[in-house]
Amino acid sequence: MAELDGHIAMDKNLYNRALKAMLAMAVATFIPTSFIKVPYGRHSRPGWGPSISPRLAWFLMESPTLWMSALLFPHGRMSSNPTSLILLMPFLAHYIHRCCIYPLRIRSGSKPLPISIAAMAFLFNTYNTYLQIRWISHYGNYTAGWLGSPMFIAGLLVFITGMIINLWADSVLLSLRRENEGYKIPRGGLFEYVSCPNYFGEIVEWLGWALMTWSLAGLSFFLYTAANLGPRAAVHHDWYHEQFPERYPKSRKALIPFVY
Ligand SMILES: NC(=O)c1ccc[n+]([C@@H]2O[C@H](COP(=O)([O-])OP(=O)(O)OC[C@H]3O[C@@H](n4cnc5c(N)ncnc54)[C@H](OP(=O)(O)O)[C@@H]3O)[C@@H](O)[C@H]2O)c1
Repeated sequence: MAELDGHIAMDKNLYNRALKAMLAMAVATFIPTSFIKVPYGRHSRPGWGPSISPRLAWFLMESPTLWMSALLFPHGRMSSNPTSLILLMPFLAHYIHRCCIYPLRIRSGSKPLPISIAAMAFLFNTYNTYLQIRWISHYGNYTAGWLGSPMFIAGLLVFITGMIINLWADSVLLSLRRENEGYKIPRGGLFEYVSCPNYFGEIVEWLGWALMTWSLAGLSFFLYTAANLGPRAAVHHDWYHEQFPERYPKSRKALIPFVY
């Protein structure tokens, strides 16, 4: 019994430290990503080691979100709680798409991805899945009443809206990619307002998750996503202006319509 108590205290201690580190990382990520163009896709460049096909890279680096969930969730104290199971659904829906469907939709003309970048993303996904899944399956105390709360309902609606925007925008971009053809100016819908609606949708999704779970784990993931994708959207936006100096729409913002 004392041994079990010891294990529980150790896990709680590890979880709290990991959570604090994630919050710090969310803030810290903003600085390097504002100065360093993460070298994949249009910003690929030599010096980051060998690369692999983007399809394989996306599958491998996103895979921890699925196998870590399968390993961790059943061991949580709340694993048979219906509210925890319902909270698991949006997380899985996003990552089943990102890990298993999105890679298949990447066109053959897309740039190879450095193994070093894929390895960093793999580690991040392992770590983040531990935080999110351990919270909803073990440390979060969700009652059935939570599903009727304004936070859960608003969060779910925000999450679904973000996911629709993200899926739609990625589909437009993927359909523009043709082998032996360069990049094109995306047009239509939210692309008339911002250069990166796919990133905007992704950030909105995890804002919804933070509301739905009403947790520091969810908040830290939302902040990390914004800190990671916000600067990358600015870099994409500048790149479009450099590539298409005359033709790129001047009124288009980088990430948030009318704002940024
Ligand atoms: N949660 C997070 O922190 C996080 C981090 C990274 C990515 N993501 C998500 O993962 C997804 C993909 O991210 P990403 O950074 O690869 O997005 P991206 O740079 O917008 O590229 C998406 C795909 O579309 C192609 N593409 C983009 N713009 C194009 C254009 N103007 N003309 C022709 N083809 C174009 C790209 O080809 P190339 O690869 O050849 O450029 C790539 O295959 C997004 O939904 C994003 O939100 C999430």
